[in-house]
Amino acid sequence: MALMSEEAHQEPDAGAGKPGPGARSSVRAAVGPAGGPGRAEKTAGCPATGADAADAAARAAADTAERAVADVAERAAALEEFAADVRQGLGAAVLCLPCKYLYDNRGSELFDRITREPEYYQTRTELAILERYAGDIIRRVRPRELVELGSGVGRKVRLLLDTMDDQGLLESCTLFDINASFLHESVERLREAYPTLRAAALHGDFHTDLQLLGPGGGRLVLFLAGTIGNLHPGEVSTFLRKVAELLAPGDGFLLGVDLVKDPARLEAAYDDAAGVTAAFNKNLLHRVNRELGADFDVDGFDHVATWDAENAWVDIRLRCSRSQRVRIPQLALELDFEVGDDISTEISCKFTRQSLADRLAGTGLRLGEWYTDDDELFALALLEKDGC
Ligand SMILES: C[S@@+](CC[C@H](N)C(=O)[O-])C[C@H]1O[C@@H](n2cnc3c(N)ncnc32)[C@H](O)[C@@H]1O
Repeated sequence: MALMSEEAHQEPDAGAGKPGPGARSSVRAAVGPAGGPGRAEKTAGCPATGADAADAAARAAADTAERAVADVAERAAALEEFAADVRQGLGAAVLCLPCKYLYDNRGSELFDRITREPEYYQTRTELAILERYAGDIIRRVRPRELVELGSGVGRKVRLLLDTMDDQGLLESCTLFDINASFLHESVERLREAYPTLRAAALHGDFHTDLQLLGPGGGRLVLFLAGTIGNLHPGEVSTFLRKVAELLAPGDGFLLGVDLVKDPARLEAAYDDAAGVTAAFNKNLLHRVNRELGADFDVDGFDHVATWDAENAWVDIRLRCSRSQRVRIPQLALELDFEVGDDISTEISCKFTRQSLADRLAGTGLRLGEWYTDDDELFALALLEKDGC
């Protein structure tokens, strides 16, 4: 996955000795307080001469041009990766499309709407747990840096930033997401809301790009919303091991996990009456049409969400309801779908305290605290680096 950034607000030596975002040439991530000592402010005390102003304008124009070229290259690389993954997924024996592609701009907007649907208990429950325990979490970890993986609109992180502020710890926050435009907007909003915060955007894939965050120290990493459940059980240990490498002794990893519960409640959460989750799922086919020139008859697919007790996951699919021949010119591919044919688009694994603890074995992480709501619908697990 190509990585992209916002304009650098960073002091030239900020983060020296700690290769965080921006320290690697492949990452052009934003770091720095809005209204803080960015480039413009650094020269604010010196009366600008005409030559200074012309130099600054030329530098800004060169930066903008360089960014535009890099953006075009990144978009081309992202499209190539999307095409390769769609080819692989639709060429497999069990048809599937990777769930990370659900989150283009339309998908991210739809996900935000899902979180407000009455059936989707996860977001309001997780927020309530955070509200109740943010003080305890921040007191235990005493972070100077928050990192949210898969940050989306970046709303929940604010509860923790407010608490860090109350405890005199507010310093920096990095949002990490696969959707670049949502990510950059979220970071801008954080900068406006917290003028003294060094807020950074890291665009990447949490399966492959976590090392870009650099080593920890005073860090609390967040992975909320039960997004861990979208990883196949076979991928979880590797992912957790990579997160453990981001932590120094005393750092924390706050993991939001959705808990095993009544199947009817789980299935309803992934098939709301207003049809928002169905639209979110079908948007993936619209994306293939839009970006790869395919001609899926999207209304000829149904959204299906089923609890799979054996695997402890909700299985989310698109099921063909109208037979069709689909052409994907950019992949030189033609596919025939019959009624009942499925494309798997997402799984959402559910946990118990014990099943999560079992998953931690050998990952370098151990369960510290377990925070849950009164009905035990959802939990926040505060994980620590093992052996510290
Ligand atoms: C379920 S949403 C959670 C959003 C937000 N954290 C919340 O609590 O509401 C998952 C988020 O992870 C992002 N995402 C999905 N797959 C990703 C990947 N492989 N790498 C980075 N981000 C990813 C999506 O863009 C989306 O913002």
